[in-house]
Amino acid sequence: MKIFSGIRPSGDLHIGNYFGAIKQWVELQEKQECVFSIVDLHAITTPYRPENLQNNILELTIALLAAGLDPEKCVLFIQSQVKEHTELAWILGTFTPIGELKRMTQFKEKAKKHPEYVNAGLFNYPLLMAADILLYKADLVPVGKDQEQHIELTREVAKKFNKTFGEVFKIPKALLSERGQKIMSLQYPKKKMSKTDDPAGAIGIFDTPEEIKEKIMTAVTDSGKIIKYDLNRKPGISNLLTIYSLVSQRSIKTLEKDFKRKGYREFKKSLALISIRSLEVFRKKRKELLARDVYIKEMLNRGKNRAQTIAQSTMREIKSRMGLI
Ligand code: TYM
Repeated sequence: MKIFSGIRPSGDLHIGNYFGAIKQWVELQEKQECVFSIVDLHAITTPYRPENLQNNILELTIALLAAGLDPEKCVLFIQSQVKEHTELAWILGTFTPIGELKRMTQFKEKAKKHPEYVNAGLFNYPLLMAADILLYKADLVPVGKDQEQHIELTREVAKKFNKTFGEVFKIPKALLSERGQKIMSLQYPKKKMSKTDDPAGAIGIFDTPEEIKEKIMTAVTDSGKIIKYDLNRKPGISNLLTIYSLVSQRSIKTLEKDFKRKGYREFKKSLALISIRSLEVFRKKRKELLARDVYIKEMLNRGKNRAQTIAQSTMREIKSRMGLI
């Protein structure tokens, strides 16, 4: 099976990214043909600082390696270094109805958040994402729930191309993690965890023990005292139970039983402790990797060459079908 996925270099990796997407990437690289991309061209569709971008890319690469990606087992590269992505995004736009793009919830949300920055790039964002996936003829796209709609659009675009110009693309499917597909903010349990939207509600994989403890102890909980999974009535505790279950690999049912006669405070203390313990390995690996920037640059360069070979070959097929060569 062929796998493709991407992540924006904007802010540090948080446990939502990790449990929603990256953990699956790490598992998939063992048996499947995987291509993963640091999507810098997507990151520039919302306000950002040019002087920070290269460092964000380096930090994200370090985070992905610390989380377990192995460049010997997968292709890891920077999106803007393979020009076929933007070329195909343009092509896909020539036959995608505007109405399809207007429906995208992420576009609507981001446009609302930055009303002064509603650019055409933000609008066309899902087409660049479709181009990313389709160039590598991916069967599966491991992502969090928030990206599901974009994968649906990718499927429609691919079908339309195949029907109009002849079979070139595979029709990809989203691959969602069973429990980690939507980790919520610790401060606003009805909103998804996001480092840029509310840093206090997001646990970074490199957060210090003090930061982790502080964020968990001040997490918003619900009225009542019982530790029980109930998304409607207890979104805060349900989210913490999900996180506990993911970091401890114990089921939510078992956790509910173990904490039956215990209060929120004790539950949070225990969650803080186990989170600190399980994230420690990431901090350790980061330290080692920080000293290896030459290796990281070489590795990304190799990734670029491997990605380019695949992308160029698909692009030739596309252009030939469309009468462009
Ligand atoms: P991005 O950079 O926002 O997030 C990277 C991955 O993390 C997942 N994620 C979450 N999962 C669970 N809970 C959360 N709170 C949470 N927050 C983020 C995202 O779903 C994503 O899988 N458009 C994409 C990047 C992209 C891409 C692609 C993905 C560009 N091209 C092609 C797949 C295929 C994005 O902005 O993800």
